[in-house]
Amino acid sequence: MADKAIDDLMLENRKFPPSDAFKRRALITDTGLYDDGNADYEGFWARQAADLLTWSKDWHTICEWNLPFSKWFVGGELNVAYNCLDRHVLAGRGDKVAFYWEGEPGDSRVITYAELLAEVSKFANALKSLGVRKGDRVNIYLPMIPEAAVAMLACARIGAAHSVVFGGFSSQSLSDRINDAEAKVLITADGGYRRGEVFALKPQADEALQSTPSIESVVVVRRGNNPVDMQAGRDHWYHDLMASASPDCPAEPMDSEQLLFLLYTSGTTGKPKGIMHTTGGYLTQVAFTHKYVFDLHPETDIYWCTADVGWVTGHSYIVYGPLANGATSVIYEGVPNYPANDRLWSIVEKYKVSIFYTAPTAIRTFMKWGGEEPAKHDLSSLRLLGSVGEPINPEAWMWYHEHIGRGNCPIVDTWWQTETGGIMISPLPGATTLKPGSATFALPGIGAEVVDDEGKHVSRGGGYLTLTHPWPSMLRGIWKDPDRYRDAYWSRFEGRYFAGDGCKLDDDGYLWLLGRVDDVMNVSGHRISTTEVESALVSHPSVAEAAVVGANDPTTGQAIIAYVILRSGLEVGEGDLRNHVAKEIGAIAKPKTIYFTPDLPKTRSGKIMRRLLRDVAEGRNLGDTTTLADANVVNELQKRASEAPSED
Ligand code: PRX
Repeated sequence: MADKAIDDLMLENRKFPPSDAFKRRALITDTGLYDDGNADYEGFWARQAADLLTWSKDWHTICEWNLPFSKWFVGGELNVAYNCLDRHVLAGRGDKVAFYWEGEPGDSRVITYAELLAEVSKFANALKSLGVRKGDRVNIYLPMIPEAAVAMLACARIGAAHSVVFGGFSSQSLSDRINDAEAKVLITADGGYRRGEVFALKPQADEALQSTPSIESVVVVRRGNNPVDMQAGRDHWYHDLMASASPDCPAEPMDSEQLLFLLYTSGTTGKPKGIMHTTGGYLTQVAFTHKYVFDLHPETDIYWCTADVGWVTGHSYIVYGPLANGATSVIYEGVPNYPANDRLWSIVEKYKVSIFYTAPTAIRTFMKWGGEEPAKHDLSSLRLLGSVGEPINPEAWMWYHEHIGRGNCPIVDTWWQTETGGIMISPLPGATTLKPGSATFALPGIGAEVVDDEGKHVSRGGGYLTLTHPWPSMLRGIWKDPDRYRDAYWSRFEGRYFAGDGCKLDDDGYLWLLGRVDDVMNVSGHRISTTEVESALVSHPSVAEAAVVGANDPTTGQAIIAYVILRSGLEVGEGDLRNHVAKEIGAIAKPKTIYFTPDLPKTRSGKIMRRLLRDVAEGRNLGDTTTLADANVVNELQKRASEAPSED
């Protein structure tokens, strides 16, 4: 399996140094920061923490490192909401716009820092009135509306940890996450807009709430105006709570290591992991990276990250990083093709967006829609582009550069993970010469190294990406499961964090990320484990066994391909089975294609040979089949694959 990930196939030699025009205004134009970070990474991060954030009490120790557990800025105290809101208002910037929010139907809201502070303070009081205390967990299941950011910041203000669940996840996924976190309150909405229609959220939440004993109260934001049931005593309308809440809620200083949030992500087993992030280190790194990777000039830039708050990108680069830096951001509620394929470009033009951050899967979709869509709009406000979520192929990079950046915007390809909390590998746009498809170098203060199977340093060619020392926004563990934390990240290579990604180093020392080398798929930039989809499939009464692989897909990066053995005498259609997976996990986990098969390729010891299934799905000649128990199985599957149509 791993040999595929470390193939060194690509040769891409185009180079794009920063232009003089860009450099003239850039925050960083030389390698000084790298020298600083490499000389003493702890001291480097301490300078950033002091420079970028406001602390109510100084730390006594920069980093306490008991491998694999780290604590940063130990003894220090600060409040995240204070850093994101109050201090900007106190400095006289209360009238500055924090968010331009654009609803899918075309409605919009403009929210200043002063308004956001008042809203967050009121909602923090509302949460208190529902019995939420420091250390409690609060679940958030919302569409892309400003209340999502308000809810997160209100939790941070009172020291409750939030756990945001992407609105596209099913009720089953929601209840699993609520129960694992033992959340006290759920914040949801009646519904939200998507593709011109209202999708109902509260009914999904109600289904989840049937099996979530820890939830005492539910707060419902009105957005879709769809009819919903409200359970007396448990359910409250957001606007009712806000009408009677006081706007006065002093930000209480929190310990630097106070749990800020949990965010669930897929690993190699069926059970999602509750990734833990804390306060001081997390905010330091997201503020630092947001400022320097995006070369932020908060007075003049209009910044737009198209992610959803349900993912880590939304946490770090829609909410915490931009607000800590006092930026003005755009938030958009809906899909990129409503009412037409040029919606995003009309938003760029409307708000004069200058920094635009999106995912390769979106860029490839824009490519399919054609260069004429962005050409309909004045995109001259753009000066910097970003990419995140999966490797960006050089063609997509070039298209992005030419059609969106009109040839004069640097592109920062940012590698990081839910677990890393913030960006780890990325260019600094005023200092780094770009190569299309390479995330270039580890940021200052970050130790990244490519190693071979034995953990030995690789200086050129393919290997595995590891991180060699702690960083401020690193995960503090997996909620309630320290052993899994150690096993999943720190056991493959001694003393190092193993990211699960393959990576190549070229002659100039540039890093080229090559995708996952474990059983985690990356579909449209979203992580989904093969095991999770397999368990969803076998939970259907007609399914006896299932094997799932991620196959290369020109738009979504990878597509989910399932091989299913039915129980004898039972039947189920492909469509029904796909819907069953959507119900169990969410629509993002629906297999693109399902092959029904009487058998699966297994080793003589009974292990499913996923590598062969991937070969079949990608129409490749089969590699080594000598360990196969029954070679006929694959021949049969290959025949089916060449005949079967696939669904989108
Ligand atoms: O495989 C890498 C890929 O996305 C994984 C992390 O997924 P997630 O935790 O959902 O976070 C996504 C947003 C940060 C990584 O292990 N990945 C992310 N960014 C890149 C990437 N692969 C290549 N290049 C990137 N820029």
